[in-house]
Amino acid sequence: MISEPLTLAKTHPVLEAKGLTRRFGGLVAVNNVSFAVEQHEIFGLIGPNGAGKTTLFNLMTGMIPADSGQLIYRDEDISQNRPCQIANIGIARTFQNIRLFGELSVLENVAIARHIHSRSGNPILSLLAGIFALPSSNAMERKTYRKALELLELVGLAERAIEQAKNLPYGDQRRLEIARALALEPQVLLLDEPAAGMNPNEKHKLSEFIREVRQQFNLTVILIEHHVPLVMGLCDRIAVLHFGQLIALGEPAVVRNDRAVIEAYLGDEK
Ligand SMILES: Nc1ncnc2c1ncn2[C@@H]1O[C@H](COP(=O)(O)OP(=O)(O)O)[C@@H](O)[C@H]1O
Ligand SMILES: [Mg+2]
Repeated sequence: MISEPLTLAKTHPVLEAKGLTRRFGGLVAVNNVSFAVEQHEIFGLIGPNGAGKTTLFNLMTGMIPADSGQLIYRDEDISQNRPCQIANIGIARTFQNIRLFGELSVLENVAIARHIHSRSGNPILSLLAGIFALPSSNAMERKTYRKALELLELVGLAERAIEQAKNLPYGDQRRLEIARALALEPQVLLLDEPAAGMNPNEKHKLSEFIREVRQQFNLTVILIEHHVPLVMGLCDRIAVLHFGQLIALGEPAVVRNDRAVIEAYLGDEK
């Protein structure tokens, strides 16, 4: 069952997918998917492996083009925007497969994202300006690193700031990725399986952390996650994908009891 997004009184969509479709050869990985994510919502995206969740994130961040459909951000059609434009207007993400600069320090991983954000214009040129310490870059650098350190404090990684990112335990690397995404000062944060590989205690802490971050940064969060209790406990609404199609959308209690969802996905996990 697909319930209508929300009652009229509450509708302030931040990000909307309208009939998004993406094919890979003969496979329709995302098939005519539509939904609207409300301001300040934690919106869950669940579904079996291969359902099209990551592909949907790739479409929503401009990393791959849609074959058809539209992506709307605050009433603006951003379907044709490039990834950096999408990041600049306030949509940041983390990756299912962690993508950190392993050889760089924890602090540098966040500072690079801050650096790119803090200078409008060409991000490569501004990065080079920083590397070669061009005029005015010193004060800027200090501010960049100070801000990066603040973010590390927030995610509980300040004490590991000078370690190489690759040496962090898995759960810490995931939190570092979140810090790096936050460095872009997003309005919408897309998290692709942030709890993957975490133990139950870490998962619980992550869930609290996502709630806090949402509050502190006034964010809208879209979360792909497999751990059903986490999703059910954390999300305001949940969308369920199955073979690229949206088969349910609604509040956790509704989705949990949806017949199609139980058959396709929840099974015994319910
Ligand atoms: N770049 C790609 N080329 C070909 N097939 C792809 C590509 N990316 C994803 N797919 C396929 O699209 C489907 C959806 O994948 P994905 O979005 O990663 O699913 P999920 O994140 O829900 O596990 C899968 O069948 C996957 O093999
Ligand atoms: Mg995935």
